[in-house]
Amino acid sequence: MELHLTEKAVCVEKRSFFHKKKRLVLIFLLFLLLFLSHLISKLGWWQVKPLYINQDTSGNGSNFIILVWYWPFGVRDTLEGDVCMDHYHIPGCHLMDQRSLYHQANAVIFHHRELQQRLQVLPLDLLRPPHQKWTWLSLESPENSGDLSHYGNVFNWTMTYRRDADIPIPYGELIRKQAMKSSFDSIEDFITPNKSTLVCWVVSNFNDHHKRSQVYKALIKTIPVEVYGKWNNRPLANEKLLPTMSHCYFYLSFENSLSKDYITEKLWHNAYMSGAVPVVLGASLEDYKAVAPPNSFIHIDNFTSVEELGIYLRNLSQNQQEYASYQAWRRDYKVKRLASWVERFCRICLYHHNLSAQTVYPDLEAWVRG
Ligand SMILES: *[C@@H]1O[C@H](CO)[C@@H](O)[C@H](O)[C@H]1NC(C)=O
Ligand SMILES: *[C@@H]1O[C@H](CO)[C@@H](O)[C@H](O)[C@H]1NC(C)=O
Ligand SMILES: *[C@@H]1O[C@H](CO)[C@@H](O)[C@H](O)[C@H]1NC(C)=O
Ligand SMILES: *[C@@H]1O[C@H](CO)[C@@H](O)[C@H](O)[C@H]1NC(C)=O
Ligand SMILES: *[C@@H]1O[C@H](CO)[C@@H](O)[C@H](O)[C@H]1NC(C)=O
Ligand SMILES: *[C@@H]1O[C@H](CO)[C@@H](O)[C@H](O)[C@H]1NC(C)=O
Repeated sequence: MELHLTEKAVCVEKRSFFHKKKRLVLIFLLFLLLFLSHLISKLGWWQVKPLYINQDTSGNGSNFIILVWYWPFGVRDTLEGDVCMDHYHIPGCHLMDQRSLYHQANAVIFHHRELQQRLQVLPLDLLRPPHQKWTWLSLESPENSGDLSHYGNVFNWTMTYRRDADIPIPYGELIRKQAMKSSFDSIEDFITPNKSTLVCWVVSNFNDHHKRSQVYKALIKTIPVEVYGKWNNRPLANEKLLPTMSHCYFYLSFENSLSKDYITEKLWHNAYMSGAVPVVLGASLEDYKAVAPPNSFIHIDNFTSVEELGIYLRNLSQNQQEYASYQAWRRDYKVKRLASWVERFCRICLYHHNLSAQTVYPDLEAWVRG
């Protein structure tokens, strides 16, 4: 009996000892797990070295580092050397496209089109260094930007053609010429003496619902319009566009969207660079006035009817002096297209000093449609 009892006691004791040991091991494992998960959350999932050590993410002093998370439309450009300095005279600006260097970047660029088409996703699982700016890049009008409702509280900067973007990247701009009287150009230099066509238009996508289509249909009741482009089965090769348009008195720079500041190459390139006077439809008269000198374009909102516009254009083409007054701005300005993605990226370095250190777009959709 006694023996039995002791044996039992020993057994119980043994068992409780094993239980205790097991519990200790379990507790130890639990702590290990907690520690590891903490470690993993602190580091990027592939990053091994600790963050924030000796990293200048304020962008001051040394280079401002810009990471292109993926290339717009999948077309990679070279980033060899100091591209911003070498090509655009913008100092202190370093572009890169290696994702593994994410933690060094002061700004990371996400082009909207690929997000919209779900070809790319945002790396929302990555920890953001405190000064890093996620930059939303788009050149599309709101109408063509799809659903932006799930991009609240994601981006710190916007980069679009809009003047009120953090980094404005218009499709083009006018640069004041240096006051070098020696190279003074006469207006005549800009007007081909061979203007033969009153109004030209290039359109590939004709949509009856577009306001521009309605204006076109009304306009041809008053004056003829020479139409080129896919829609009319008269496609123009790139190198043919400017020479062809240079023979037109007027070019219809009609945008497909009527949106704030949405002024595309239809103004800067097709009209201004060819020497045809642009007749514009799209953004408001005020928007155009803000980026283009008076008497360099004709805005359709300035006329009470399309017929009145037609009569005005015909009249203008018949009055050399009046017509020349629409070319006079060329004495003071030259046209610059902004057509390279690399140049657009470099522009961040012209603006970042002036932007507030801590910003976020809580409702990108509202901003874009605002
Ligand atoms: C940033 O750099 C400029 C010029 O190098 C310097 O004058 C300024 O003190 C710097 N500011 C900070 C906050 O480091
Ligand atoms: C104008 O047209 C004529 C005949 O088509 C041509 O010989 C001449 O080179 C043209 N001039 C300019 C400046 O394009
Ligand atoms: C609009 O009309 C006013 C008054 O006729 C004129 O001074 C101005 O140049 C016009 N602007 C455009 C862009 O057509
Ligand atoms: C057209 O031009 C003629 C003469 O050049 C002028 O009398 C007339 O008022 C103009 N009409 C319009 C609508 O500008
Ligand atoms: C940045 O701000 C300075 C001073 O406020 C101003 O002179 C400069 O033009 C601004 N730069 C840009 C790109 O807005
Ligand atoms: C950028 O936006 C994120 C997301 O809202 C925010 O947590 C972060 O503080 C912002 N960073 C900067 C530098 O503004």
